[in-house]
Amino acid sequence: MNTSVKILLIDGNVADAIGIRQKLAESKSVVFSTRMASTLAQGLEMLGTQRFDIALVDSQSIQTLSMPRLTSLHAIAAETPFIILSKTFQESQALEAVRAGAQDYVVKNRLNASALERILLYAMERHTAQKRTALQYSISRVLAAAVTVEEAEKHLLRVLGEFIRFELGQAWHRDLASDTMHCVRSWHSAAGGFPNFVAASRDLRLRPGDGLPGRVWSSGAPACISDVTKDPNFPRARVAAGEGLRAGFAFPIRVGDETLAVMEFFAREAHELDAGLFDVTEDIAQQVGQFMARKLAEEEKAIVTNERLMILDSASEGIYGVDLSGNITFMNRTAAVMFRCSAAETIGSNSHRMFHHTRANGKPYASQDCPLTRALAAGDETQVEDELFWRMDGSSFAVHYSTHPLAISGKITGAVVCFNDITERKRMEIELRHAQKLESVGALAAGIAHEINTPVQFIGDNTRFLQNAFGDARQLMDKLEAVCAEAAGGAVRKETLQEVDAIRKRIDWDYLRAEVPKAMLQMQDGIGRVAKIVRAMKEFSHVDRSSEKTQADLNRALESTLIVSRNELKHVAEVTTHFGELPMVSCHVGDLNQVFLNLLVNAAQAIGDVVAKTGQLGRIEVRTRSEGNCVEVAISDSGGGIPEAIRTKIFDPFFTTKEVGKGSGQGLALARAIVVDRHGGTLTFDTEVGKGTTFYVRLPLSEVPEPREAVAK
Ligand SMILES: Nc1ncnc2c1ncn2[C@@H]1O[C@H](COP(=O)(O)OP(=O)(O)OP(=O)(O)O)[C@@H](O)[C@H]1O
Ligand SMILES: [Mg+2]
Repeated sequence: MNTSVKILLIDGNVADAIGIRQKLAESKSVVFSTRMASTLAQGLEMLGTQRFDIALVDSQSIQTLSMPRLTSLHAIAAETPFIILSKTFQESQALEAVRAGAQDYVVKNRLNASALERILLYAMERHTAQKRTALQYSISRVLAAAVTVEEAEKHLLRVLGEFIRFELGQAWHRDLASDTMHCVRSWHSAAGGFPNFVAASRDLRLRPGDGLPGRVWSSGAPACISDVTKDPNFPRARVAAGEGLRAGFAFPIRVGDETLAVMEFFAREAHELDAGLFDVTEDIAQQVGQFMARKLAEEEKAIVTNERLMILDSASEGIYGVDLSGNITFMNRTAAVMFRCSAAETIGSNSHRMFHHTRANGKPYASQDCPLTRALAAGDETQVEDELFWRMDGSSFAVHYSTHPLAISGKITGAVVCFNDITERKRMEIELRHAQKLESVGALAAGIAHEINTPVQFIGDNTRFLQNAFGDARQLMDKLEAVCAEAAGGAVRKETLQEVDAIRKRIDWDYLRAEVPKAMLQMQDGIGRVAKIVRAMKEFSHVDRSSEKTQADLNRALESTLIVSRNELKHVAEVTTHFGELPMVSCHVGDLNQVFLNLLVNAAQAIGDVVAKTGQLGRIEVRTRSEGNCVEVAISDSGGGIPEAIRTKIFDPFFTTKEVGKGSGQGLALARAIVVDRHGGTLTFDTEVGKGTTFYVRLPLSEVPEPREAVAK
């Protein structure tokens, strides 16, 4: 098939123009259709209203290549290639013409038909190639400058629309969830404006194969429709006809085999699309596809990062991150509120120097002793109970914190610190300890009353005995006074002496003389026992409200606890004590009494279960010893032991195996809080099912125990 080329010939010389037309008509392979203009002004006007493939401009019609004329030639060159025709060859004029954008400078008389044909076709090819390069360049610039997919698409629709001279461009995106395409953006040239068509496009949801975008989506290849109003698969045909749209062209934006989006363009005229355009769009589509994939990944990453930050900010724990030097890399909102600072101002500062510089006793906390420093060096997780964090305003709060190493490809890069303000929890614990103490005193009251009642009863019996004995002794004394009076008169009557003897027999004086001193001793003993119980109760009931420790004798503390709990224990077990030599221990002795009582009551209850079956009394043994830098109190029982399955749970608050009313599951949790958290000691146990259990309380002797991690095995 012959190529057809539309030419505009601008030449004031009619003879020359006819000569050129004749040469063009001689071509066998190309059909040249030529329109004539006699002046440059007329030619420019025609170029503004019609499309030409190439323009031939006679140099006479330009006369001088002055600035305004050059500008008009540039304007032509952007859209239509042109060639300058001249009667004679003038080198300077030829140069100027090429600089002005002319594809060639040709001397009319030297041309034969085939040379002219070749020059024209090459000029058109060169022009197309230049335009494509310019297009590639603009697209690369758009993609390099765009920050978002939206921005890039807006510019691409314009650049491409203008390049192919279509008046409307639209971008369609694929929605993965519903597997449909919808129109997200439109562009139209200044001459355009297709509100109904744009609105109709926005309302559409297209499936693969539907309409122009759907067709391109399912085939993965560009597609052209010369008249959309007549196309059977074009749902917007009616609106397109209403707004005068005819030609349609679309191409896919792909990444690998996936079509992410489709760009479609429409023109009022049925356009003959350049066959090379498909190759150009292929390149563009690839470039845009990669850009979109990158941007979408970036946008997704930004969403995920943002979501993570929101999650961190919504946590009720304080959370901050540090690098390997311990410098803060991020901080969540809760942490900033707790530290009373803005997160931004802490970034880059050393966390230990900012929040952790001083111990609870006011002494400086060396950075090398900080558990976080050690955890960073070793890449370990740590849990630290009850230390202080310092706020920016100089106040402090008690915290529980944990550190978790951060690693990238197995290399430690820093750590995350999570912490809770435990001030309120500690206050509640003190309240709970106090409440439990009152509760135990209440629970022990009946037993203590019973313990006191026995000596008080025999003190009462002995008092009545002494009262009677005194009445009897007084009768005897009265008679003896009568004997004395008679003796003073010179002679004691025999009857009087007989009466003394009779009274002495009646009151059984020998018995009284032997028993009264015994009764007195018994009473003293009873009073001693009562006093001991009262003192033990007083010692036991001591409530440690102050945060200061005092020096205490733990053997004596154990003794008083055993006295107040004697009535609870004696019915189930025989209690033996082996107290070793103990140094005075700096401690909260009232709280430790509570620990000992909880352990003794647990022992008695464990034995009670065995006694209920065997009817035989069990054994409780209390041993103390001092070992190295600590003292140890061991309380053993001959109960049923602790089953394997619950050994890890017994220290949990509210864990109990006892029936309602007998146990609330707080005894060991409280004991652990007192021994481990308050004294920096350990609370452990050995147990054997069927044989019994021993609990060990170990307390450090040093004045200021180093805060250490909670341990309970
Ligand atoms: N000496 C022991 N022998 C066997 N089991 C024990 C012993 N001490 C504790 N336990 C087990 O541990 C559980 C938890 O003990 P804990 O003292 O915390 O709570 P409780 O005794 O059940 O209730 P509370 O002490 O609040 O009255 C007990 O229910 C029991 O199952
Ligand atoms: Mg208990």
